[in-house]
Amino acid sequence: MIETIIVTGGAGYVGSHTIIELLLNTQYNVVSIDNFSNSNHTVFERIEAITQKKVKNYNIDLCNKQLTEKVFEEFINPIGIIHFAAFKAVGESVANPLNYYHNNINSLISILEMAKKFNISNFIFSSSSAVYGNINTLPVSENTSLAQAESPYAHTKQIGEDIITNFINNHRNIKSILLRYFNPVGAHLSGLIGEDSKDKPNNLVPIITKVAIGDLPPLTVYGNDYDTRDGTCIRDYIHVSDVATAHINAFEYCKNSMKDKNVDVFNLGTGHGVSVLEVIIAFEKVYQNKLSYYIGDRRKGDVVSVYANNDKAKKLLNWQPKLTVDDMMSSAWKWEQNLKLHNNKYELLKKSN
Ligand code: UD1
Repeated sequence: MIETIIVTGGAGYVGSHTIIELLLNTQYNVVSIDNFSNSNHTVFERIEAITQKKVKNYNIDLCNKQLTEKVFEEFINPIGIIHFAAFKAVGESVANPLNYYHNNINSLISILEMAKKFNISNFIFSSSSAVYGNINTLPVSENTSLAQAESPYAHTKQIGEDIITNFINNHRNIKSILLRYFNPVGAHLSGLIGEDSKDKPNNLVPIITKVAIGDLPPLTVYGNDYDTRDGTCIRDYIHVSDVATAHINAFEYCKNSMKDKNVDVFNLGTGHGVSVLEVIIAFEKVYQNKLSYYIGDRRKGDVVSVYANNDKAKKLLNWQPKLTVDDMMSSAWKWEQNLKLHNNKYELLKKSN
């Protein structure tokens, strides 16, 4: 009988790219639960344009346990949950911590209750490298101990990992994998889907593309006096489609190969650090123009340099990030231009009606 995978947050950035990989590369029936709180309804049309397959989405808030349970009653032979749905804007989490704790924790508890009630034995959790806090030892491996969370957002990911671990320790028929993303960037290589959240962009690459398209003023590079090769901060940028693919491998590993543990954790990064100026140079190559930016003050709370040790994911998940920084920039730019075209068309349509 065909097996069903439930993707929560399927309309979001990493969620939508993962659905594409599931539809193109696996035989599972894929369903999504997303209330579009921070995403766009057009995402499922875009997924269909890429995969020629339709995905059913249930527009409900996972914090509402009764509604969630009703939806789960509909699923046929559910064998796994990939749980992306969560708020993710770091700055907003500092401004509104209760919203973040309420949403990210309650939705997780609700979905774990469903896993228990409906006997769904594989659970993949979308975590973040933010759980490591401010780190001095590089590269960061899964054994690096977690420091204090730098934001309520990061804290919800730490708490989430603990909740899952405690829950699984007491429900040995369920297995879970926690995936700690470094800096996912870029867009599907088709340029038809990419980051389209309602939050104002806070991260480097979406800001760069919005500056280039003329929707934001010049980029501020947050400091060039760090002790790094060019003075700017270093991060481990990873293409969102490589992150998406890792979910498929993690799911298969969880389902078929995880023998001696019930919970395991993996870093998802390329293992290479790239500086802010190197990102800008890579972008300028595809933009074929100079990006408008200036050097500003350091951003409070920025870590100087961080990148992953990804050996564990490579070895056990049999996964290898394939796309380069150039691919990240060209796909992000292609997507930004498509989005602008789409939004302009939409504006024209609204005016003519
Ligand atoms: C941020 C989050 C982190 C989250 C990650 C997801 C913060 C404090 N941390 O990390 O929790 O998991 O995104 O991708 O927000 N930069 C500029 N100018 C800008 C924006 C960024 O110079 O306008 C620089 C930053 O100083 C940093 C690099 O670009 O060195 C990347 O920044 P960003 O994309 O915000 O990601 P992180 O800070 O690594």
